[in-house]
Amino acid sequence: MAAMKARRHLQCLLKGRGRAVWGARCLSALPQGSFASSSSSSSSSSSRQLISLENEYSAHNYHPIPVVFSQAKGSTVWDPEGKKYLDFLSAYSAVNQGHCHPKIIKALQDQTEKLTLSSRAFYNDKFPVFAERLRSIFGYDMVLPMNTGAEGVETALKLTRKWGYEKKKIPKDEAIIVSCCGCFHGRTLAVISMSCDNEATRGFGPLLPGHLKVDFGDAIALENLFKEKGDKIAGFLFEPIQGEAGVIIPPDGYLKAVRDLCSKYNILMISDEVQSGLGRSGRMLACDWEDVRPDVVVLGKALGGGVIPVSAVLADKDVMLCIQPGEHGSTFGGNPLASAVAIASLDVIKDEQLVERSAQMGEDLMKQLIELQRRFPGYIKEVRGRGLFSAVELNGAALSPVSAYDICLKLKERGVLAKPTHSTIIRLTPPLSLSGDELEEGVKALQDVFELDLPMLLQTRPQTSAPHAPHLCDRCGRKVYGA
Ligand SMILES: Cc1ncc(COP(=O)(O)O)c(C=O)c1O
Repeated sequence: MAAMKARRHLQCLLKGRGRAVWGARCLSALPQGSFASSSSSSSSSSSRQLISLENEYSAHNYHPIPVVFSQAKGSTVWDPEGKKYLDFLSAYSAVNQGHCHPKIIKALQDQTEKLTLSSRAFYNDKFPVFAERLRSIFGYDMVLPMNTGAEGVETALKLTRKWGYEKKKIPKDEAIIVSCCGCFHGRTLAVISMSCDNEATRGFGPLLPGHLKVDFGDAIALENLFKEKGDKIAGFLFEPIQGEAGVIIPPDGYLKAVRDLCSKYNILMISDEVQSGLGRSGRMLACDWEDVRPDVVVLGKALGGGVIPVSAVLADKDVMLCIQPGEHGSTFGGNPLASAVAIASLDVIKDEQLVERSAQMGEDLMKQLIELQRRFPGYIKEVRGRGLFSAVELNGAALSPVSAYDICLKLKERGVLAKPTHSTIIRLTPPLSLSGDELEEGVKALQDVFELDLPMLLQTRPQTSAPHAPHLCDRCGRKVYGA
């Protein structure tokens, strides 16, 4: 019965796609307590209706800002009612090239008419071209294609273990991978086994063995660990800028120090550039900030141009050829559609000089954010960023219980979409194609929130809300993420 009801919803949704008004039968089929039973206004109902439908039928594994995307172009998004927003999240940096970029969409359309999937049981005529393109841009001998970022990281971990046993001669099943406190590499089991985010790990144990943690940005701690356990350490996995932790930038010289230590102790340096790469930080790879060449690079997100998931692990032959036929793969990895889209996505980054643009616009953004902090020192603890990879860290203690989420809700009302990371950090990562005017518009909205909305929020803050509790890592008991 419930399944029949759900099917009717879906049919109504599909039939009504693009229409402002839903048929009465569809509305009457909505779950009790949903918006449909309390309103008949059509064009303003659609967002609420869709949110209600999703809440009813989708797992609650996200806590979204309540806005429904129904169309987007460049940095602009429209909801079903036609309200316009500026996107300052870019699907967590997957839309670096801007939404629905015409060249990427054309590549997608052209390819869908020819061939979409071969599987790697056979060759196809697009993946080799994509692989060669990656080689010519990034200078690694080989690529292993996957789909999502988490899969890319998993692949890098497997590759690193394999290399550890075959080349470094680590005793069987004793290989260790070191990662950083506060890291984020996705949501799969191996990857959450490295996480300090209790929400990501609690209730999902047992976590995978073979991991050790070290403080991000601390080269001395890293060397101590390498000295102590280096014989069994196969790789050091890290984000050159920690995105989900709140756009944390390591101290100058850290990337070089990591490179030197990994070389000294024969440990693979694995840079997860899923979020920081492809121009986001104002360099093609964030490791380029210190002209450092990791042994393994993981790309994802913007490699698919915001169109389809494409990820890739890059390495030289002595590492990549440790994986033999049958030992790893994915039905969709390297598919011709993804390959065509990824080639176009890389072309757009180059042709539109998005890396340089990110660097330049990032400087403009930082100047404006510093000015904002100067105006609101009580509210803003720190502003930071590289390129258009930036964040505003709130003074959590002064604002509690008003959170970064509350501020993002107000920003949304003012037409700008951003998402908090943890309770006190607002990440600002607009498409790299954003215009100077759009940048100013976004910062102006943030300024208005601080100037006009925040005093009201603080006055009406619910006395029952708990103050921001510091996030203590289950593993080491230390405070991670700003609070
Ligand atoms: C650094 C990093 N690695 C990996 C991932 C996981 O990517 P995906 O969500 O595509 O699995 C993310 C996602 O935000 C990320 O920021």
